[in-house]
Amino acid sequence: MSDFEKLSALMKADWNRRLRHDYRFWMSDGVSDDRVMWESGARDFGILCEGITFSGQESFLELGCGVGRLLASALKKCGRVIGVDVSEEAIKKAAELLPADPKLQLIVGNGYNLSEVQSGSIDLAVSFAAITSMPTDVIANYLVELYRILKPEGYMRLQIYLGEEQRLAHADTLHLRCFKPENFKKGLEAAGFDIEWIKELVLPFQVSFKEHGLETFIASFRKSNRSPLHPNEISRLLLPLGESETEGNQPISPIEFWMSYNYAKTLLEAGDFEKAREAVGFASDVCKATALDVSDLLQEIISEINKKEAAQAERKVLSVGVSFEGRPEIFEKNLKALKDAFPELAAQLQDKCDEAAPEIQQ
Ligand SMILES: C[S@@+](CC[C@H](N)C(=O)[O-])C[C@H]1O[C@@H](n2cnc3c(N)ncnc32)[C@H](O)[C@@H]1O
Repeated sequence: MSDFEKLSALMKADWNRRLRHDYRFWMSDGVSDDRVMWESGARDFGILCEGITFSGQESFLELGCGVGRLLASALKKCGRVIGVDVSEEAIKKAAELLPADPKLQLIVGNGYNLSEVQSGSIDLAVSFAAITSMPTDVIANYLVELYRILKPEGYMRLQIYLGEEQRLAHADTLHLRCFKPENFKKGLEAAGFDIEWIKELVLPFQVSFKEHGLETFIASFRKSNRSPLHPNEISRLLLPLGESETEGNQPISPIEFWMSYNYAKTLLEAGDFEKAREAVGFASDVCKATALDVSDLLQEIISEINKKEAAQAERKVLSVGVSFEGRPEIFEKNLKALKDAFPELAAQLQDKCDEAAPEIQQ
């Protein structure tokens, strides 16, 4: 098996697992419902395509399209829309969520080339929140492929991280790749692109991590008439130090644990105990495959979920006991019977009613 074939199997397994857990969380925003997800997709499509006037005829390709958050907007603007993703789960979900449209083609790719796409056929190729997590030699291979599929006057828009070079594990399929600006420029030029502009990406939530030397940008490129160099050379220019080899046979990114653990905490705060438990279960499975020893943290959050859930159930029992909304006559009848049989308890119950259901008090 070649290095790319091994990476392909790993990227598929990793992204399918994340998609099966919670497709909205693992896409871009960690959003809570599909409506918000489409809105954020329209916002990101607008940012990515800033300054482009669509004629309605363009052929558009998104690399790492996920469940189609941006493709929904592309369908409204372009004549042909192609979404490519390494994950079967993502493409299955995209087919389910997006409107059936003959303009749309969804492709489960091998994760390192675009062999299903014809050379010189695409006007605009984009990637948002996707190439940033790919191993650098996969990025380099894709750049050569993107050059191949673009029309001579075609262009490309990418979301990227620039700042301090990060030396990550080669097989990490989640951690953000970040390149020194001058190396990024050299790598992209070696792949046959001219940089048009690079602008900082600002979203309503944190996407740059300046304290860690990572800042996120949208970059616009034109296809030049220089032929790309070999992907190995592009990879070396992008990241002169290269990526480290991972030890162990299940190299799951520790970031995956921290993201799912923090997601569980957010869900707990929001009172969504079922989803919080699912996220803890996911985090727990992930950490079994890493060297992280976080059993105390997991135990702590499980107890916290149980405690908050029990407290909520107690409040419910109490409110069910005192809520006779819409049926005041039954309340009155029961209260009278109780008052007669247990005068002290009835007085206590009346107090609770005064606190919890003032609307049915006379
Ligand atoms: C964070 S999601 C973003 C999805 C989409 N771009 C969006 O913004 O909603 C990253 C996506 O990239 C896909 N991906 C990761 N590595 C890939 C690769 N090597 N080739 C193609 N897709 C890949 C994942 O399967 C996942 O669907």
